[in-house]
Amino acid sequence: EITRVEGLEILDSRGNPTLQATVTLASGHQGTAAVPSGASTGKREALELRDGDPARFGGKGVRRALAHLEGPIAAALRGRDAADQAGLDLALCDLDGTADKSRLGANALLAASLACAHAAAAGRGLPLYRHLAVDGLEPLLPVPLMNVINGGAHANNSLDIQECMIVPHGFERFGEALQAGVEVFHALRSLLQRYGLPTAVGDEGGFAPNVAGTRQALDLILEAIRAAGYQPGEQVALALDCAASEFHRDDRYVLAGEARAFTRAEFSDYLASLVNDYPIVSIEDGMAEDDRAGWGQLTDRLGRRIQLVGDDLFVTDVHLLAEGVEHGLGNAILIKPNQIGTLGETLAAMAYARRAGYAAIASHRSGETGDTTIADLAVATACGQIKTGSASRSDRVAKYNRLLAIERELGSAARFAGTAALGRH
Ligand code: PGA
Ligand code: ZN
Repeated sequence: EITRVEGLEILDSRGNPTLQATVTLASGHQGTAAVPSGASTGKREALELRDGDPARFGGKGVRRALAHLEGPIAAALRGRDAADQAGLDLALCDLDGTADKSRLGANALLAASLACAHAAAAGRGLPLYRHLAVDGLEPLLPVPLMNVINGGAHANNSLDIQECMIVPHGFERFGEALQAGVEVFHALRSLLQRYGLPTAVGDEGGFAPNVAGTRQALDLILEAIRAAGYQPGEQVALALDCAASEFHRDDRYVLAGEARAFTRAEFSDYLASLVNDYPIVSIEDGMAEDDRAGWGQLTDRLGRRIQLVGDDLFVTDVHLLAEGVEHGLGNAILIKPNQIGTLGETLAAMAYARRAGYAAIASHRSGETGDTTIADLAVATACGQIKTGSASRSDRVAKYNRLLAIERELGSAARFAGTAALGRH
């Protein structure tokens, strides 16, 4: 039984305010969680409530969301069973009463929702991944999608594609896959140094060199995979997040860094040529969130060969996902709890994806905290993939470290999703 809900305005990895919540049960058990924040947010995401008071943090304070958390949200949660996540989250949605959670703020609601889950797990004496375990699914360690070259809205370089990721999948254990990813990251640093390119990192802990375009970024990564002693494709594959909504203007896809503009058909061709030339297994937001025709074309073109992930397209919303499934848009969904605002709705989107044969990838945001809830979420739902940045910055590494701890705790029962997680197409 929930007796107390307290909040705190803390800082995220970009130095912007965000919300942390602590839920206390009658038994004395407590749970704490913090919410992340995106930069290349989708238009249909639930609303992140900020104060807009220019006198504090450039308007980015979250004191109003904090007041909602400790006022109406706390009042609605007090006396309820923390273990009834679905019921709690329904009550939170009803309390807010808007479609986009703009009255109380998705940040206030999610902080409470996640902290309840942590408190309930503590109350049951279970690790979070056990508490959240989905009926009939054994825990599964996910393949990491590690964003080693950052561009787009996450870096001030010339790369338009937001994320160039490595996917260490051809391994027996999570720890081995992570080690391979980390070694590739270090090999990439050495290469960049040798070529006189900067090794400063972007928001998600990947390098942010001024490369001439996507192909140069991918060539560098392939060279790093080989230099680290791994086989590109077989052991360590590649993935992209185009975040194409960010460079879609007037019906054109504009790669400013490459001085090229494409129609949707030409951009499909461009992505298909990359897939032909590189061991790319996944492309996220290859088309803009409003370009359903583009999504349809891209899915027809590449949907049987690789994973096509909707991030801005689906915003972790089960209704938008259902529409996408019906119209054959993409074949996978990125899962970011703060896009929708409660853990219950996040789990519903993941369950829907599973039934529809869509892959689901648990994901961080570009603005993060030390919170590691998504690591447990990935293991509990056996979704098989997690995207949580490169091998630097403690806000990113914290999630990988949590997965290492879970793998050790599971011992001989620890299973790694491996290549099979990518093989649904
Ligand atoms: P965001 O980026 O958190 O800035 O939205 C992550 C992504 O696009 O996947
Ligand atoms: Zn994305």
